[in-house]
Amino acid sequence: MKGIQVAQYVKVSLVLCLSFISLTRSTSKGPKELKVTELADPKPGPDDYLIEVHAAATNFFDILQIQGKYQHQPRNLPLGVGRRVLGHRARHPGLQQNPPKFPVGSRVFGASQGAYASQVCAREAQLLAVPAGWSFADAAGLFVTAPTSYGALVLRAGVKAGDIVLVHAAAGGVGLAAVQVAKAFGATVIATAGSPRKLEVARAFGADHVVDYRDPTWPDQCIAWNGRILVVGFAAGSIEKVAMNKVLLKNISLVGIHWGQYAVHEKESVPVVWEGIGKLIAQGKFRGTTFTDNEYVGLERIPDALLALGGRETWGKVVVKVPQGTQSKL
Ligand SMILES: NC(=O)c1ccc[n+]([C@@H]2O[C@H](COP(=O)([O-])OP(=O)(O)OC[C@H]3O[C@@H](n4cnc5c(N)ncnc54)[C@H](OP(=O)(O)O)[C@@H]3O)[C@@H](O)[C@H]2O)c1
Repeated sequence: MKGIQVAQYVKVSLVLCLSFISLTRSTSKGPKELKVTELADPKPGPDDYLIEVHAAATNFFDILQIQGKYQHQPRNLPLGVGRRVLGHRARHPGLQQNPPKFPVGSRVFGASQGAYASQVCAREAQLLAVPAGWSFADAAGLFVTAPTSYGALVLRAGVKAGDIVLVHAAAGGVGLAAVQVAKAFGATVIATAGSPRKLEVARAFGADHVVDYRDPTWPDQCIAWNGRILVVGFAAGSIEKVAMNKVLLKNISLVGIHWGQYAVHEKESVPVVWEGIGKLIAQGKFRGTTFTDNEYVGLERIPDALLALGGRETWGKVVVKVPQGTQSKL
């Protein structure tokens, strides 16, 4: 099969130019060093599904991982690159479970290390069925962003009709999911983003009001009495500081979310969240967020996709389509 593997961590010049929100990250060198090569076909273990990869979503942490800097860094080299989120069909030559949850030919999406390849192995717990009518590309972008935003807004903040929800970095993958979930629960959404195109995208996904937060007149103190602040990520690279007196003075709740850890600490909430997302999809209130201003086709385009992502040039989920040859074994 073809795939991208890192035998030695790549060198990246990671530059943080601190000027409030207009931080830039230079990731020019690292992803360019990734090469598609011929690799041995993955050998599924007794509990593994063998997946034919049709689409692979890119994530900022992939850029960190190829440098050996990701917080959940796999231990050994060579490292199959690309982790979460892919769209594909399931084959289960080694699977002992009878009958398996996903029969041969099922359309599934999920997470597995080494997803930037034409095939990958994954356990059942890492997989979900592609929603009816969804493309592999859209499903590939769903696995982390949708449950993170749903979990944050619904489980952690108890979003409800009448709330006014301010979504920062609203045109990113997590941001567009948050805009849709908040709207579906009857909230009014104010979306912030860093370019006119991204503001247009946030509106297209349902935001009621949009604000360019690169505008220096953008107010930085807008939380209401009894407000809830949801801490989801630090895409700009620096960890924000909060003046705790404001938390007291405005009766504010400050809550975080670490979606990946729900599978460890709160397993029972994972299917609840996916069921909620499924309902929104079925009601037409949640759609795929695949970046469409540029198309990335073939594993060879992974470096370009990662560079565009790291350069803040994209919106939604940047997904690389992986055409399978006529040699498909499924
Ligand atoms: N807590 C969790 O469980 C969890 C789960 C998934 C992701 N996350 C985190 O959530 C954040 C968003 O993830 P995502 O998948 O939505 O990322 P993404 O698609 O790359 O979007 C990030 C957005 O952040 C904005 N941004 C501001 N400063 C930036 C900078 N210096 N470089 C790059 N982007 C910058 C960009 O929008 P503008 O250009 O409009 O500013 C961009 O659209 C990340 O920090 C991620 O680690 C957390």
